[in-house]
Amino acid sequence: MMALQTGIRAQKLRRSILDQVRDYYRQAHGKKDPFIPGKTRVHYSGRVYDEEELVRLVGAALDFWLTLGPEGRLFEDKLKIFFNARDFALVNSGSSANLVAATALTSPALENPLKPGDEVITPAATFPTTLAPIVQNGLVPVFVDADIGTYNIQADAIENALSDKTRAILIPHTLGNPCRMDVIMRLVEKYGLFLIEDCCDALGSTYKGKLAGSFGDMATLSFFPAHHMTMGEGGGIVVNKSRFSKIVKSIRDWGRDCWCEPGKSNTCGKRFQWQSGALPAGYDHKYIYSHIGYNVKPTDLQAAIGLAQWEKAPEFIQKRKNNFKRYRDALKIFDKRLILPRQEEGADASWFAFPLTVQPPLKRGELVQFLESRQIETRMLFGGNILRQPAYQQIAHRVHGDLKQTDRIMNDTFFIGVYPGLTPAMINYVLDCFNDFFAGGKK
Ligand SMILES: Cc1ncc(COP(=O)(O)O)c(C=O)c1O
Repeated sequence: MMALQTGIRAQKLRRSILDQVRDYYRQAHGKKDPFIPGKTRVHYSGRVYDEEELVRLVGAALDFWLTLGPEGRLFEDKLKIFFNARDFALVNSGSSANLVAATALTSPALENPLKPGDEVITPAATFPTTLAPIVQNGLVPVFVDADIGTYNIQADAIENALSDKTRAILIPHTLGNPCRMDVIMRLVEKYGLFLIEDCCDALGSTYKGKLAGSFGDMATLSFFPAHHMTMGEGGGIVVNKSRFSKIVKSIRDWGRDCWCEPGKSNTCGKRFQWQSGALPAGYDHKYIYSHIGYNVKPTDLQAAIGLAQWEKAPEFIQKRKNNFKRYRDALKIFDKRLILPRQEEGADASWFAFPLTVQPPLKRGELVQFLESRQIETRMLFGGNILRQPAYQQIAHRVHGDLKQTDRIMNDTFFIGVYPGLTPAMINYVLDCFNDFFAGGKK
């Protein structure tokens, strides 16, 4: 009787706390300052949330599970269903997702894993932690140039870049714009290559009706606030081939061989009957390590935020597409001065941003500084030519052909935001500023 009453009292308190959280949201977060053109910063990205994120987060805090648990499992299930995948593993960032996915290709549990020195095709116009896991695993990146306009790897150049050491392709769908997956999948099948899609910027993008992230052996997502939806810090691995399911979770979870959920034991039914490596027979399966792994799990608090954001994802994706279209339609008049973004035939991008490349004699710096002076946030296309970055100048690598377009991206390309936090007034202001810069198209 006593315990029941404590339960009822606790539930009442919980309801009252969560009601107060809603109220707090309205008072502290809900009132947005009015947009003042030229004064309010027009960000390229940001968290878009309401009281539901706060309520779920505080609810998870009251549950005090802390480590990846029930909220995480629910979120993993939702993403697995969305991608129609074999599995989905949450991690603490898109970078960790890339690290785990690339490391999975080297797993001794595979029939023919990647070995140090094996080659992986990837673009040089990239994000650092798309490339880093290739290097960190002792693999050799083979760089292929990108296309201006799509900013993706030149799919037609990949076949000639292959050597007898090439085992995998790791490609980002740059800024959410799907790569030419029909060409890439033909090569994957013809040469028996592994494929990892970096979809950190591409949640909801499709190519010929199929979701980006559902083509490769694995795909990765980021839930950092700049991305389509957020968990604060977070990411995930879409597992499309069941043989990677256990491998990915093992590498994520310390490298352990055991696959019990937290708080569970003996899921395998023979916890003390394993014989592995040079361990004594019957060594506890919970402490058998079949991979050199990491611990890159997020917390259940982060997963709780993710669950609230997931409800909004379809609307976020649609808004990104609408904002992109609005910019594209309006900036078309400047197409002698700016190269506008384009999609491959059959691609329907859920855009991360709106990329532009300046045409000579216009200098990127002039336009970027003008926009920034008008409080419009701009960004470079990540690392530019990554081989020119201080951290990557000495890495073992091969370049196929040249990286002329990649260098041009490094020198002449930038992007502005299309995130769902932009209002029509902000977008009109940004377009007015482009008009001012080009003097209404006369300049
Ligand atoms: C294409 C791409 N891959 C990977 C990442 C890394 O994601 P995270 O910041 O969650 O580590 C990013 C981050 O912006 C990205 O744009």
